[in-house]
Amino acid sequence: MRFGYFDDKNREYVITTPKTPYPWINYLGSENFFALVSHRAGGYCFYRDARLRRLMRYRYNNVPTDMGGRYFYINDGGDVWNPSFAPTKAALDSFECRHGLGYTRITGERKGVRASLLMFVPPGHTAEVHELRIKNTTAGPKNLKVFSFIEWCLWNAYDDMTNYQRNFSTGEVEIERGGSTIYHKTEYRERRDHYAFYNVNAEVAGFDTDRETFFGLYNDWSAPDVALKGASSKSVASGWSPIASHGLDVDLAPGEEKTFVFTLGYVEVPRADKWEKPGIINKKPAHALIEKFSTTEQVAAAMKGLSDHWSRLLSNYSVESTDEKLNRMVNIWNPYQCMVTFNMSRSASYFETGIGRGMGFRDSNQDLLGFVHLVPERARERIIDIASTQFPDGSAYHQYQPLTKRGNNDVGSGFNDDPLWLIFGVAAYIRETGDYGILDEQVPFDNDPKTKTSLFEHLKRSFNYTLNNLGPHGLPLIGRADWNDCLNLNCFSETPDESFQTTGNRTGRTAESVFIAGMFVGVAPDYAFLAEKLGFTDEAKKARGESAKMNDTILKHGWDGEWFLRAYDFFGNKVGSKENKESQIFIEPQGFCVMAGVGVEGGQAKKALDSVKERLDTKYGIVLNNTPYSEYHVELGEISSYPPGYKENAGIFCHNNPWVIIAETMIGRGDRAFDYWKKIAPAYLEEQSEVHRLEPYVYAQMIAGKDAVRHGEAKNSWLTGTAAWNFVAISQYLLGVRPDFDGLRVHPCMGGEVGKFTVTRKCRGAEYRINVKNSGKGAAPKLTVDGKAITGDLVPYAKPGATVIVDCEV
Ligand code: GLC
Ligand code: GLC
Repeated sequence: MRFGYFDDKNREYVITTPKTPYPWINYLGSENFFALVSHRAGGYCFYRDARLRRLMRYRYNNVPTDMGGRYFYINDGGDVWNPSFAPTKAALDSFECRHGLGYTRITGERKGVRASLLMFVPPGHTAEVHELRIKNTTAGPKNLKVFSFIEWCLWNAYDDMTNYQRNFSTGEVEIERGGSTIYHKTEYRERRDHYAFYNVNAEVAGFDTDRETFFGLYNDWSAPDVALKGASSKSVASGWSPIASHGLDVDLAPGEEKTFVFTLGYVEVPRADKWEKPGIINKKPAHALIEKFSTTEQVAAAMKGLSDHWSRLLSNYSVESTDEKLNRMVNIWNPYQCMVTFNMSRSASYFETGIGRGMGFRDSNQDLLGFVHLVPERARERIIDIASTQFPDGSAYHQYQPLTKRGNNDVGSGFNDDPLWLIFGVAAYIRETGDYGILDEQVPFDNDPKTKTSLFEHLKRSFNYTLNNLGPHGLPLIGRADWNDCLNLNCFSETPDESFQTTGNRTGRTAESVFIAGMFVGVAPDYAFLAEKLGFTDEAKKARGESAKMNDTILKHGWDGEWFLRAYDFFGNKVGSKENKESQIFIEPQGFCVMAGVGVEGGQAKKALDSVKERLDTKYGIVLNNTPYSEYHVELGEISSYPPGYKENAGIFCHNNPWVIIAETMIGRGDRAFDYWKKIAPAYLEEQSEVHRLEPYVYAQMIAGKDAVRHGEAKNSWLTGTAAWNFVAISQYLLGVRPDFDGLRVHPCMGGEVGKFTVTRKCRGAEYRINVKNSGKGAAPKLTVDGKAITGDLVPYAKPGATVIVDCEV
């Protein structure tokens, strides 16, 4: 069942009912100021850090779900409703929510009044702009009382929802221009030098800033006193819960439409200029921001800017084919999600509260893979930030905080896959840009300026960290966990509330990861190439040697007969082996070892992938392991804490499905690879939205596996490494256009279902138009470049400004 449709021309998903199976959301903002907005106008915004600088209060896990947002109450002769349906839930004669790239437009109509609310963050600014159009579609005049509403968060979102003994006394506001501008200045008197405001570009009939007055203490969201009465109370908050509400008197002749522009902004004021007079905040920066967006023309110009911005970004990779679902994933939604994950890491979504995790070392490096072609300069900056949190021995803080860019001590280090991801990230950046200069960039360890050394030295420590931490079989030690955060082989936790990752680490150097071994072999050629490039021939030679050795070790100690083992546990027992009672096979080493080329020649790769097909594949995607653990195993950790079929215990992790997809292309099985991809690519799941439940335009982290009670149901949409890896899989391996160090590799492998297609790729200043005639046989492609046949699949990079025509038959 569908709850909307794709409007590809406008790059929008159009939701046609407020009653989707879950709130379907969008993100606004792209630099420092971000917002989440659901199809019912729920959500919140923040400046840079969703925990420490939150502007709007939002209630997670509430009844009803999705409470807190930008609400407009319309009182039409006593009939009170919202164009966003929530919170009154008054029936609408028509409803539509268009989620576009960086904006959302919600339109609701009731009894002859149509109200349309456009929300976006203008690029480069720290504000949400809300443009509200209200139209009288009847033949008679209308007098409407319209009330805006937002609730302020007292900045620190965690403190805001826990520390009421203090917070009920700190709230402060100021009111200006008769109530058209409402300022939120809680804690400004002391250590803060920022405040927020909510402005409307019109005279108001009244305003409110005190929540209790606006609603009435015992009313719920659907029945605020002020909206029911049809008149604002001009309340001035003092402590408790400050809000901002404008009261507008709107007279509309038959057919008439009026437009109001609201600005919900954030400003910082230099310490010395904080006050206009004692106790009165300096409003100059707010006025400047308000003036930029106070007319519909300014709004239209900013929207045009936003749209052009996205057209530019998306033109770096696009495909034209006969499969419209493929086109919309590749051209619009997957890169869009990659941008969002790059910006947010795993901080703020409808499944991540914005107060928990910072930026992950592993996560951020992987996010780069799908983002780097959009804005390489920002990827460069991110790489330096990440590398600056590394330790001198090559290990890394698992997470760092975006405001301070410091490593997070609570989580610490010891996730032994982390260091290698840095090499993946840097290699992807250099492939895209050719900027080898980044390797000479001086980067500190643990943010200590005294320890600055070249970025290449960081890569070297990463690489050698693995070599310095090998276990009894010569495989890499796993540490607290590898990619699978929940495979905790050194943490025997028997006490509730302990972290599975950070408590009770066994010190023994025994538990080993075949997955990290695969990563090591996978990344070694890139590392060796870069070392060579800088003239470190010995290091390059050593890397190649060690990689060959690891390859042999995997085949010797990491091969189980029909698939790759997952690990050895603390006691030296096998994990993911046919010797085990449960969970004989795991997805991660099959994907990563084959991607690295392990066993491709000897036939193990094919066997391993056939085992994946046989044991892990389901109609909704490939599960992580099979069979699930049916009871808790203290020596395995969090993985066995989940009921069967959910999360890491045999859920479908959409993040590592693309590893298998890429692996299938490595052995030329494009048909199977494309089939796997279609099972998890959201546009193909639109018709099953009642089962899947989450947005049909973005990937979710997990879909419940075949052993789950609710097989096929997705959770945790938006912020997941799934976005980057699937973009890599579809764009670089199935469609087969990927930047390499010395040229653009063109090697499609996606089976015969999509016959002809054209990929347009901009890279290093030139544009490549690649016309593919695809028989689906998976054989080596035949290429001509500007009419001349070449051997191999590498199209040399052209001069900036050039347009190169590539014809490819495969
Ligand atoms: C989550 C984490 C990621 C981890 C994965 C598997 O997506 O963000 O770092 O690799 O779960 O446990
Ligand atoms: C990852 C896993 C999650 C686990 C968390 C712990 O996000 O997906 O299940 O609880 O890591 O760090």
